[in-house]
Amino acid sequence: MRKPYIAGNWKMNMTPSAGAAFAHDLAEAAKKAGADVKMMVAPPFVTIPAVVEALKGTGIIVAAQNMNDHKSGAYTGEVAPDMLKDLGVNTVILGHSERRSYYKESDEFINKKVLLAIEEGMDVVLCVGETLEERESGKLEEVLSTQLSGDLKDVKAEDMCHITIAYEPVWAIGTGKTATPEDADSAHAFIRSFVAKMYSADIAENLIIQYGGSVNASNVKALMAKENIDGALVGGASLSVEKFLPIITFDK
Ligand code: 13P
Repeated sequence: MRKPYIAGNWKMNMTPSAGAAFAHDLAEAAKKAGADVKMMVAPPFVTIPAVVEALKGTGIIVAAQNMNDHKSGAYTGEVAPDMLKDLGVNTVILGHSERRSYYKESDEFINKKVLLAIEEGMDVVLCVGETLEERESGKLEEVLSTQLSGDLKDVKAEDMCHITIAYEPVWAIGTGKTATPEDADSAHAFIRSFVAKMYSADIAENLIIQYGGSVNASNVKALMAKENIDGALVGGASLSVEKFLPIITFDK
């Protein structure tokens, strides 16, 4: 059984004080509602310490949205994995489409970060997904295969338990257009079968695959009902208790 894993990617939102207050309210609301999914929030770097403090003892995971591909050194403006770990952060989102497109992150570069995260004992939420143009030209499977084989290169089978995949079709992010549950499920099924070929049926079976792209209170149930959809990576709707609570309690 794959336990549902619901995550909120705050992107470049929430100052430390706003993030701490929101995290506190979210944890209270989740507890009151009896939410029993695996839950994660990913604040901006500077907001992380305040959110870690606010969520102490709640079981809600605090993740980073990115990290550098080196352990330390002359990389102005960057954040190293051990800095995150020192704050109590052991999970990192890598390969988000906004980083791929705005900051030109390649699969080779993302792979370096994935390998470093694993070496540092961290868990990774690895984002993959196609643009509308790629989908419409029939390249969905080709794009996912290239991303998965490139980003997971040299990741050992025994480390795959530290990897969660987030399928986020670029055209569905922040647009209000969600993939239909059927389309999302078939992309997830493809990812699972590709991982089975790269590794084993067993690893693929246990792999958590989140869907991301305009997930909200009204579409989460139908998405989560699909066989291959094990969770959600939520952007906009993770920024208020009112919108995020129905998502983390989709099974109530
Ligand atoms: P939205 O939920 O705002 O579409 O964002 C999805 C996303 O990119 C999460 O990482």
